[in-house]
Amino acid sequence: MSKSIRVKGNASVANVSCGFDCIGYAISNPGDIITLTKKGTPGINISMSGLGSDSISCDPENNTGSKAIISLLEALKSDQGFNLHIEKGIPPGSGIGSSSASAAAAVFGANELLDNPLSLDELLIHGMAGEEVASGGIHADNIAPALFGGIILVRSYDPLDILNLPVPENLFSTAVLPEMTINTKDARQILPKDVPLSSAVEQAGNLAGFTLGLHKSDFDLLGRSMVDHFAEPHRAKLIPGYNKVRQSALDAGAIGCGISGSGPSVFALSDSLEKAEQIGNAMVNSFQNSGLNSKAYCSPIHRKPPEILD
Ligand code: HSE
Repeated sequence: MSKSIRVKGNASVANVSCGFDCIGYAISNPGDIITLTKKGTPGINISMSGLGSDSISCDPENNTGSKAIISLLEALKSDQGFNLHIEKGIPPGSGIGSSSASAAAAVFGANELLDNPLSLDELLIHGMAGEEVASGGIHADNIAPALFGGIILVRSYDPLDILNLPVPENLFSTAVLPEMTINTKDARQILPKDVPLSSAVEQAGNLAGFTLGLHKSDFDLLGRSMVDHFAEPHRAKLIPGYNKVRQSALDAGAIGCGISGSGPSVFALSDSLEKAEQIGNAMVNSFQNSGLNSKAYCSPIHRKPPEILD
């Protein structure tokens, strides 16, 4: 049985406009790489490197990767100890599932080293325990796509009901990361606890339209449905130039565009890789006009679980 493993966890786009806390998809890049090694004594020792790693706690109870492993070990009643190294390719506070990528890779790697006692589905709840450290609340729309790949619908949190949505063949993602951070806990705290009935009705209609659009590969319907009445009206002001960046994506041919997770990243969907790249350039230029450097990541929807590198 192997003693050590390296695993890449992928970034993800959550909310996808109309799916606040309930829709997310995985992207191929960027990602976090964890190296996990069994040790002879209980407990988890953490080391970190890479983007923004100096702002992340190495206390096992306050690190998303180790917290996910601790939750797994408690469920298995195991006192196996690990050395965990996390190489951050996704800066924390970027809005593309930085904490989920680490948690998904860590819990996936630990399960592998323990000879796979749990299925991928059973790992989700432990990944969510890790994610909670960073977001201060329970939401699975980053961790579920990071673990399973594809486009995921969280139909219910209690009981947990996670569903795969169809991924149209020619659907591509652009995610643009400006050089600033937004703390997910803070971005959740500014949201009102209640929404008006009229907003709930609009959001329900858009969410249904979005899922039907995926089923029918109807990109006009997808675009019409990508409107967020819950989070975007409150969070847009946190991202300098957001409305202009969104408009630049739509002008460059995006199907739809919105805030990725709790921001500051902004995502767009399109029907070809070439268009995804053109949209990325337009969004980067628009951020520049607001005084922010940014970087675009363009890819198809990533359909696979975390990848074992060696
Ligand atoms: N659904 C979560 C939120 C995602 O919007 O707060 C956080 O990345």
